[in-house]
Amino acid sequence: MESSNKHKKTIGRILKVNHAGEAGAIRIYQAQILVCRYLHPSIVPFLKDTLAHEIVHKRLFEGAMPKRNARPCRALWLWGIGGWLLGLTTALLGKNMVWLCTEAVEETVHLHLEEQLIFLRGKDNELVVLIESIKEEELSHLDHATANINNRGRLAKIVQWKIKTATEFIIWLSTQGDSTRMVQAIKY
Ligand SMILES: [Fe+2]
Ligand SMILES: [Fe+2]
Repeated sequence: MESSNKHKKTIGRILKVNHAGEAGAIRIYQAQILVCRYLHPSIVPFLKDTLAHEIVHKRLFEGAMPKRNARPCRALWLWGIGGWLLGLTTALLGKNMVWLCTEAVEETVHLHLEEQLIFLRGKDNELVVLIESIKEEELSHLDHATANINNRGRLAKIVQWKIKTATEFIIWLSTQGDSTRMVQAIKY
């Protein structure tokens, strides 16, 4: 009983982080669309398609919450601001930076989803199916970005490292350490 309660808590945390992550992703792509419309119109169709996916993902995670007694993150605004700033600055720095940003963010998301699936199998198969379908789309965002990166110099490595670290930190901060506990719960 105690362990099933612990699982419920972890499942709630998974939904909370994923929902907040999608909110952040929405802001990134919205900000990039705003800038790229003027500076790099050729990549706007990809950004618009991706934004449409992220909006659906957020809605799906939101829909899965009530049944599992999960609540949205209290620091959603932080994700919004962080995503917006990240989207805006990367788009202003050029197309390659947009692809580097997409790759870094989607890679972080992908790793978290993989970890979650390992934990959820056999515990919440409905959520497994949902996350599997979302993971497929996140992977297509990642692959598209990777295929379009044309410069992987020192600056690119630093920027990607910073984006990944910031994303991990905001995940940890917004869940008040839940993400660390979640990883531990998955391992043990
Ligand atoms: Fe997403
Ligand atoms: Fe995505």
